Amino acid sequence: MLHQMAHNKRSSGILFVSLIVIVVCLGLSEAQKQQVPAMYVFGDSLVDVGNNNHLKISIAKADFPHNGVDFPGNKPTGRFSNGKNFADFLAEKAGLATTPPPYLSVVSSKSNDGFPTTGVSFASGGAGIFNGSDERYRQSLPLSKQVYYYSTVYGDLVQRLGSAGAQTHLEKSLFAIVLGSNDLFDYFKSGSNQSNEITPQQYVDSMLIDLKQALKGLHDSGGRKFLIAGIGAVGCCPSQRNRVKNEECYEEENQMAVKYNEGLKPMLEGLKSELKGNMTYSYVDVYDVFASFIQTPSAFGFTEVKAACCGLGNLKAQVPCVPVSTYCSNRSDHIFWDLYHPTETAARILIDMVFDGSQQYAAPINVKQLIAA
Ligand SMILES: *[C@@H]1O[C@H](CO)[C@@H](O)[C@H](O)[C@H]1NC(C)=O
Ligand SMILES: *[C@@H]1O[C@H](CO)[C@@H](O)[C@H](O)[C@H]1NC(C)=O
Ligand SMILES: *[C@@H]1O[C@H](CO)[C@@H](O)[C@H](O)[C@H]1NC(C)=O
Ligand SMILES: *[C@@H]1O[C@H](CO)[C@@H](O)[C@H](O)[C@H]1NC(C)=O
Repeated sequence: MLHQMAHNKRSSGILFVSLIVIVVCLGLSEAQKQQVPAMYVFGDSLVDVGNNNHLKISIAKADFPHNGVDFPGNKPTGRFSNGKNFADFLAEKAGLATTPPPYLSVVSSKSNDGFPTTGVSFASGGAGIFNGSDERYRQSLPLSKQVYYYSTVYGDLVQRLGSAGAQTHLEKSLFAIVLGSNDLFDYFKSGSNQSNEITPQQYVDSMLIDLKQALKGLHDSGGRKFLIAGIGAVGCCPSQRNRVKNEECYEEENQMAVKYNEGLKPMLEGLKSELKGNMTYSYVDVYDVFASFIQTPSAFGFTEVKAACCGLGNLKAQVPCVPVSTYCSNRSDHIFWDLYHPTETAARILIDMVFDGSQQYAAPINVKQLIAA
């Protein structure tokens, strides 16, 4: 009996030591894989990791169930997803230990440690390139506000690291910008006068002018490596299918997304040459990735391409994902979590496809090449 216990103790001791060795080795290899000093995230609900939790009167919120059912800890965090979103998977791929935290959490926290040197997120549900998002969801951070907040972080970095130190840090950092869908939703919202007075081409042209302005602002404050997402096939999300008969995709809206994406590519190329090549970018073709999901769902394990997982009514898109809504049992076979947003699975697959994939999905270089550039 004693012998047995001693033996058990010894072997559990050995097990314990080997576990420590494994953990330490994993820890080291994870740390060594960190590929960027920091990531700065700008955008809308596709990448919001909790900024809107701090906007008192915003109605663009996801800080309640069933959001987060598959997030570590199974709790809502402000992400518009059952689990992780694009920002989380991007941070993982870039080897960061954590996803850059929401700017508004950092500034509202009592401890005065300053901004983390591994980056900050300015993304806010409901945000658009245009300033109108305060009208849409009562309160959110439009791109101009996000860029302004970034300039305060830049000031903080310069103070701590000096100009040269901040520049060295920032020129290796990744700037991820994911937005534009809300501006399109605005254009098509019922009762909107936009569509009578402004043509789709004029509208996307002016979105691109404002985006270019924002990118120049980020470049002026040290940004050099940009991941820029195009607009996805927004007309195929459950809320928009619900507006069309036979649950087809809302074609005019998709065509406008294509128009925007077609303009975005030459705009970025132009900006790069204006900045004398002092900027690199990867354009991420969200539209093409989602078109692939919808055209060949089985290739990705999806069996439901139209309906949301969480919601109520037709396509689970008549009532959003709120606590009284029901949600599907298998979140891996749905493209859409709620009436607007992809599932964690769809987000993970997209980031896999654009991180180290072909030019079809990320051009002129993929995200891995952008980081290495
Ligand atoms: C958007 O808002 C910012 C900050 O209030 C302002 O500086 C900018 O001129 C506005 N842009 C437009 C196009 O109205
Ligand atoms: C839309 O246009 C009509 C007539 O041109 C005008 O009366 C109305 O106030 C406009 N609505 C909005 C939201 O601008
Ligand atoms: C490019 O950026 C570097 C710092 O990263 C700066 O010294 C240089 O002046 C910039 N060149 C142009 C053309 O903007
Ligand atoms: C959930 O869906 C995924 C992807 O289609 C599939 O691989 C898995 O077997 C499903 N799980 C269950 C419990 O049905």
